[in-house]
Parts: sequence; C-alpha cells; structure tokens
Amino acid sequence: MQEAVGARDPNQAAAAPKTCREALELGRAFLARKGLIDARKDADLLLAHVLGTDRLGLYTALDKPIEPAELERARALFVRRAQTEPVAYLTGAREFYGRSFAVDRRVLIPRPESELLIDLARAHLAPRTAGRAEPLTSAARAAETLCCADFGTGSGCLAITLALEFQGARVIASDVSADALEVARANAKRLAAEVDFVLADGLDHFSDRRPEGGFDVLVSNPPYVDPKAAVLLPRDVRDFEPHVALFAPQQDPDLWVRRLVQAAPALLAPAGRLWVELGHDQGARALELAQQAGLCARLVNDLERIPRVLEARLS
Ligand SMILES: C[S@@+](CC[C@H](N)C(=O)[O-])C[C@H]1O[C@@H](n2cnc3c(N)ncnc32)[C@H](O)[C@@H]1O
Repeated sequence: MQEAVGARDPNQAAAAPKTCREALELGRAFLARKGLIDARKDADLLLAHVLGTDRLGLYTALDKPIEPAELERARALFVRRAQTEPVAYLTGAREFYGRSFAVDRRVLIPRPESELLIDLARAHLAPRTAGRAEPLTSAARAAETLCCADFGTGSGCLAITLALEFQGARVIASDVSADALEVARANAKRLAAEVDFVLADGLDHFSDRRPEGGFDVLVSNPPYVDPKAAVLLPRDVRDFEPHVALFAPQQDPDLWVRRLVQAAPALLAPAGRLWVELGHDQGARALELAQQAGLCARLVNDLERIPRVLEARLS
C-alpha cells in the first residue's frame, strides 16, 4: 500500500497541515523517510512550485495558511517524487546558465556540468565578441557572423544559450527526436532566441548547412551511457529520462565522439572549435580518437576534476 503523506502510523489519521510551514515539514519528513538524499530541497522546490513561487518566496510565506487544494497538489507531487520521478519533470522547469528551460519527459534534464561547454565557447570567443567602437559594413558583418552548431539538442539548452550569449550568431541545432524539438522550439520562443532547429538522424545534414567559412563552434552532449551499464544508473534517470538521450547506439559509448571528430575537419572554420561532453571514463579514448582524426585536442576537467569535455581544433 502506498504510504499517505503525513501518516507515520498508517492506521492513525494525521492532522492536516494548516500553514505552509506545516505542509513543508510534512513533505520533508515524508521524502526523508522514503530515503531521498535531497529530501529537504526537493520538498521546498515542490511546495514552492505549487504556491507559484521560488524557494525564497516559499520561506517568506511559511506562516501563511495553505489552501486545501494547494495541499492536495503538494501531497500528489511528494508521492510522485517518492516514486523517484525527477523534480524537474514535476515542476516542468530546470535552470541552465541562469535561464529557466521548460522540460518534460520528452527531453533530457539539462545538467550543470554541460554549462562547461558554454563557458569554453565564451572564453574562446571573448576576443572576437568584445565591444567594437566602429559599426561594421554589411559585408564585414556577414564575415564576422558567428556560426554555431549543436548536435543532439534535446531541450535546446546549449543552442539557445549560445544564441543568447552571442547575439547575432547563426545557430543550427539538430535532434533525431521530433518530440524533443517541440520542447526546444517552445523554449527558444519563450526565451526569444533565434535557432534553426532541424529534425535529423546523425551528423550528415551539417555538411549541407555548413557556412562558407565553416562553423566557429560545434558543441554536443551526445548520448554516451553504455546500455550494459543501465542497471547502474539512478532510478530517476533510468526510469524517467528518454533512453534515446541517454544510451549510446550499438553498445558503443564512443560512437558519437568518433563520428564528431571524424566530421569536424570538414565542418569547422580554421579557428573553430569542437567541444563534446564526455562520460566519466571516456576521456583517454576520446583524446585518442581526436588525434587519430588529425585534430589537436585536450581534455577539460569539470569541478569534480573529471575529464568532462573534449576540446578539439584543426591542427
Ligand atoms: C544527452 S542528450 C543532450 C540534450 C541536450 N543537448 C543537453 O545537453 O541537455 C542527447 C540528445 O541527442 C539526441 N540524439 C540521439 N541520437 C541521435 C541521432 N542519431 N541523431 C541526432 N540526435 C540524436 C537525443 O534525442 C537527445 O536529445
């Protein structure tokens, strides 16, 4: 039997919370009993969502009465979270690079480590995008337009962030999932970003769309989990996120890295860069693949000192 939220002893009816504080304490205790590591944070985010506010807004509303309908919605979300459904799918949003992206089960939930791809692009392009005193002629503007491509765009978090960080850039993003592209297009519209989204399987279509001078930026967070390691994934990932976004095809975790480094020489501008997010144990193999493809490459560590990104350029 599913344990009711708030009932320590299932035979004893618990008094219904009357304030937001009581509802929050009930949610935190329930999720902690269910073994959720981030029980406090999860309960805060879910109750804040129900009340139409954020965590700070929730803390300032703690002494306010909670409506029965709000309590019911919060209870339902606590129960779903206890069944390991990710908070981002329950609230319908996840922050990425300081912006809120709508997410649902059609797309991977953007991860903080993927922000490193944007940091690298910004650092590399800073000299080129720094403030300019003289206005450009239209020919110079065309030559100066940054061209970016994102393979496997999902929610659109990387492509949209590139478009917003580099105003005026031309950004192309592709995905094999029409469902994911619907989410990405809606995010771009809401965030007022211009991105050309393309439904395509694999990388071939990028050759047809290659700008005359090549792409300045090619980013990707491709599916890299070995399907054989599926049992090791946390349940909230394995049971809820799209498998096409998680699992590498053909039981080959390196397949997309190999294809990306092989395609890069024909796609990149002379000073362009390829940045690919990697699985925690992929670094050495990715570096070797890039070198075999004739690229100059290095690995970039994330905050946990895991080689998280392959950076490659033409040699
Ligand atoms: C790990 S997710 C990354 C999503 C997003 N870029 C992010 O960082 O949150 C990988 C994406 O690649 C897409 N994908 C998988 N196989 C593909 C293929 N053959 N061609 C194009 N996209 C593919 C999936 O649909 C998914 O959206």
